[in-house]
Amino acid sequence: MASVTQITEGLKGLGLAQPEAMPASLPEYNVYDVMRNYITDELHRITKKDKSIIFSALDTTNVLEKGDFIMPVPRLRLEKGTDLKEKATEWAQEFNKGEFLSQVVANGTFLQFYFNKNLLFPVVIKDVLKRGKDYGYLPLAEGKKVIVEFSSPNIAKPFHAGHLRSTIIGGFLANLYETAGWDVTRINYLGDWGKQFGLLAVGFEKYGSEEALVADPINHLFEVYVKVNKDIETEGENSATNEAARAYFKRMEDGDEAALAIWKRFREYSIEKYIDTYARLNIKYDVYSGESQVSQEAMKKVIDQFNEKGLIHEDRGAKLIDLTKFNKKLGKCLVQKSDGTSLYLTRDVGEAIKRKELYKFDKMIYVIAAQQDLHTAQFFEILKQMDYPWAKDLLHVNFGMVQGMSTRKGTVVFLDKILEETKEKMHEVMKKNEAKYAQIEDPEKVADLIGLSSVIMQDHSAKRINNYEFNWNRMLSFEGDTGPYLQYAHSRLCSMQRKSDITEEEMLNAEFNLLVEPCAENLVRTIAKWPEVIKRALTNHEPSTIATYLFDLSHIVSSCYDILWVHGQERDVATARLALYMAARQVLNNGLRLLGITPVERM
Ligand SMILES: *[C@@H]1O[C@H](CO)[C@@H](O)[C@H](O)[C@H]1NC(C)=O
Repeated sequence: MASVTQITEGLKGLGLAQPEAMPASLPEYNVYDVMRNYITDELHRITKKDKSIIFSALDTTNVLEKGDFIMPVPRLRLEKGTDLKEKATEWAQEFNKGEFLSQVVANGTFLQFYFNKNLLFPVVIKDVLKRGKDYGYLPLAEGKKVIVEFSSPNIAKPFHAGHLRSTIIGGFLANLYETAGWDVTRINYLGDWGKQFGLLAVGFEKYGSEEALVADPINHLFEVYVKVNKDIETEGENSATNEAARAYFKRMEDGDEAALAIWKRFREYSIEKYIDTYARLNIKYDVYSGESQVSQEAMKKVIDQFNEKGLIHEDRGAKLIDLTKFNKKLGKCLVQKSDGTSLYLTRDVGEAIKRKELYKFDKMIYVIAAQQDLHTAQFFEILKQMDYPWAKDLLHVNFGMVQGMSTRKGTVVFLDKILEETKEKMHEVMKKNEAKYAQIEDPEKVADLIGLSSVIMQDHSAKRINNYEFNWNRMLSFEGDTGPYLQYAHSRLCSMQRKSDITEEEMLNAEFNLLVEPCAENLVRTIAKWPEVIKRALTNHEPSTIATYLFDLSHIVSSCYDILWVHGQERDVATARLALYMAARQVLNNGLRLLGITPVERM
């Protein structure tokens, strides 16, 4: 990693000292914090208000026209009866902007602060170019552990749209926490236990093929599952197949080695296949866990604990927990059926307790569809009522549904099928531009990467909770806010670099005062904001926060192309401009990778 004193050095180069650092600031990683510290000092001098109040009252803005920071004056808790507008005007006049700010404006009861571009250009561009892929990294939580559980398909059943969203969002969140210095453990909690595995074993004896299992375990197991389910339908009420499946699963539950052997192979082959498929999405799990990994003893212990805490009551042999005492909306939930079998809820509780012991996490995130909101809230409440203080460290990140996810061959059932189809469709789109297509070295590979980015960006474009329609045409378009558009923006910047003979060393020593155009100022202010965007995403867990920023950044870059030429310019002008563009390229690259996308350099 590059030196962490670059920002200080950048300021020194301008003859400036770092303003005194507030405890919550990271001025060596984030120019916004340098500015926060400076404004805090200055407003403290003027208002005599507590520094921590001022510091936390500085909000970032959505649009640069409103400044880089905006502060609602009422947040400083002035005495009752104070004329807030008058105060704002007074303070704006008294404020010493120094070399840090270009403007401080009173607008009603708001103060708006505008960064000085002459400080941003040398400090930020150099910092981004030197840090490279580490620009945006923030040591906010070093030494802290987070578990992100996501994707979690059922081995015996189709990989549906909900799993796809969980995979994409969870992959992003895991990356995001790493960017903020967390020690991240990625867990895939497979549906790998239950009666359907008895069914699968019985079905495999009838319809299975050893060869097909090894070649394509997930699809083959699904075929078997479909066939054996059909048998049950045909057989009707007292299905012999169903009975055999039940008996088989009973043997598995009793720990019968022979019965478990086949299930183990189903599980292992499936995981091997999953590993490859997830790799295409740049996802690598630390742990493949699953429902099977919660032992009977662990579940019995959980039920015992429920009893000790007086949480359980019985109803016709079944065991229930009444959560309405704590929260009306949570209702009553069944934790053990009258035949003694435990339910998901009990299993989830057991698994969470095991994970706390094993990983000693500081936070655990479950990326699960909003349809599971109630289940998740019940499960969190139960842990709280069991007096586990860490129940407050559990977080459910939910999301809406995807509609209409189907391919030419019918309904999509598996992740690798979705990814194949996307790649094929992208390849077709690319072939339409023959001249360009001919220049691409490995079109298959590029089609795959751009195709993946289209699926991922479609998911990230709106708030998580929204449902969306899986729309092939829109998603694969190079226009509008799509993955291919961002890939194109990135590859165009790469091409600009390839066409120039200006070295990185020259860029670092550029004469940044040659950047005078308003669009250059917009661009550098946007680049400077990246660490703040990451911080916002850490609080709202919204991939769309990152996506929106990357689209804005790309639009600003695109608007610069007509004005800020590099080709055919004097070398000093070209160098300063290229340095700015290359900083933008780096941020776009870092942002795409954060979202799980591999940026392409040519397309
Ligand atoms: C000043 O505040 C008003 C009302 O909040 C807002 O509409 C306007 O855009 C602000 N002006 C600037 C320059 O930000």
